[in-house]
Amino acid sequence: MQYKHDPLFPARFMWGASSAAWQVEGAVNEDGRTTAIIDLNSKKKQPYTDNSIAADHYHHFKEDVALMAECGFTSYRFSLSWPRIFPDDSGVPNELGLKFYNDLIDELVKNGIEPIVTLYHYDMPVWIDEKFNGWYGRGIIAEFDRYVRTCFQEFGNRVKYWLSINEQNMQICYGDWLGVSKNKETWFEDKWKVNHILNLCNAKAVIACHELVENGKIGPVPGYVPIYPASANPEDQIAAMNAEELTEKVWNDFYAHRKYNGFIKSYWRENKIDPDIRPGDMELIRKAKIDFFGLNCYRSNVAMACKITDTEREQELNKSGVKGNFIYPKFPGLYQLTNNPFVETNDWDWEIDPVALRYMLRYVWDHYQLPMMITENGFGGHDSVSSDGKVHDPERIAFLRDQIYQVGLAIQDGCEVIAYNPWSFTDLLSTGNGMSKRYGLVYINTTDEALLDLKRIPKDSFYWYANLIQSNGQNWGRSL
Ligand code: BG6
Repeated sequence: MQYKHDPLFPARFMWGASSAAWQVEGAVNEDGRTTAIIDLNSKKKQPYTDNSIAADHYHHFKEDVALMAECGFTSYRFSLSWPRIFPDDSGVPNELGLKFYNDLIDELVKNGIEPIVTLYHYDMPVWIDEKFNGWYGRGIIAEFDRYVRTCFQEFGNRVKYWLSINEQNMQICYGDWLGVSKNKETWFEDKWKVNHILNLCNAKAVIACHELVENGKIGPVPGYVPIYPASANPEDQIAAMNAEELTEKVWNDFYAHRKYNGFIKSYWRENKIDPDIRPGDMELIRKAKIDFFGLNCYRSNVAMACKITDTEREQELNKSGVKGNFIYPKFPGLYQLTNNPFVETNDWDWEIDPVALRYMLRYVWDHYQLPMMITENGFGGHDSVSSDGKVHDPERIAFLRDQIYQVGLAIQDGCEVIAYNPWSFTDLLSTGNGMSKRYGLVYINTTDEALLDLKRIPKDSFYWYANLIQSNGQNWGRSL
C-alpha cells in the first residue's frame, strides 16, 4: 500500500545501534580473557583481520556510551564474550570479565539506554573447541547452559532483552567463512548435525532466560536476505522458495514452531543426511518458546531455477571491496542466485535495497506473528577524515534514511516492530575486511595497517540519526 503521509513510529520505539564483542572490544588478552575461535579465524583470512585492538571499546566504553547518549539512543545491542566470562574449564566465572559487562550495563542504564544483549556472536572459547570438538560435540551444550545461566543471574536484573545466537543460519550456510566448519569435504552433511547442536543450545538459553530473568524476553537473530524470484516464470518462484527455505525459513520455522519443517525433513531424506536427533532433544526444544525475532538485514537476493543436470558452483563473496567480484552460487535441482538489475550495490557488491526491509518485516510478521527488532542493518564504506577534520558520509545517510523509512512503512502496514539498531555504533572490524569496510556512525581513528590514536569522531550520519531519533522518526532531513 502507498500512504499519503510519512509513517509514524510507536511512542516507546527503541532507537540505537549494534556491535559484537570480538569486533569492537579489543583487549583480547586482558583481565583474564582467553582466545576465541573467531580470533584465530580472523587471523587466517585473506585479507587479514586482527581483532586484538579493534575499536578498543574495552578501554573507551564510558566515552562510547556518552556518545550514544548524545545521539539520543534508547537502546544498544551488544554481545558478551564467552571467553571473557569463562576463560577456562574450571567452571568458575572470571570476576574481571563480569565486572566489565556490569560496568557497561550500569553506564547504559544510567544514561537511559536499554541494553539488548547477544549471548553468542561467534566467540566460542578455544578451550571449549579443544575439549569438546566445538559445535561438533555434545559437551558444549552443558557448558553453554552454564555460561548463559551465569549471564542471566549476573545481568538479568538490568537486562530484559536477550538475543540467543547471532545468525545461526549464516554460520551454517557460510561455515567455512565463519570458522564453524572443520572439514570442507564433509560439511554438506556435518552442517545439519552442527545445526542441531546449535538448536539445542538456543533452546537451553530460551528456557534458562524464562526461568532466571524476571520479565526477561529472548529471541534468536537470523541473518535475513530476502529472496525475490528472477521472473514470473513459476519455476523461478519455486527456486526462490527453495532458496528461502535453505537459507532462512528452515531456521525461522524451527524457532517459532519448535520442530523441523517438512521441507528440511524431505531434503535430508533425499540427500541421505542424518542430523543426529537423539531421544529427549525434541522435548527440550518444544519447551523453548521465543518471545520475539531479532533480525539482521543488509541486502537482498534474486533466485532462478537451476536444472538438476547443471554443475554446482560455490558462492564467492567479494573480499576486495572492488565492485564486480561477487560470484553467485548454483545448487542444481534447487536454485541459483543472480544479480538484481533494479538495485544499486555497494563496493562489496551488496545490494542496496531498502524495500527488502519492509518485505522481510511483512514476511516474518505474516508467518510468525511475533514482535520484531532490527538488530543489524547498515552501510559498509571506505570512510576517511576530510581536511576539515570531519567525516562526511552522505551515502550512509541516504542508506539509513531509505531503510528506516521502509521500517516505518512496515509498521504502518501493521507489523509489530519494537526497535531499530543499525550496524554499527562506532566503526569496528568487518568480518572479512577489518577497518577498511566501515559501518559506524562514529569514526574510529585507526587503520588495519597502523594503530593511530583511536579518537572518536562522530560522522555526519551520527548527527542526522540524532535528529531522526529526537523527532521519533519524523525528521528525515529532506523530502524523500
Ligand atoms: C552480520 C554479522 O552478518 O554482518 C556481523 O552479524 C557482521 O558480525 C555484519 O560484521 C557485516 O558483515 P561484514 O562482513 O561486512 O562485516
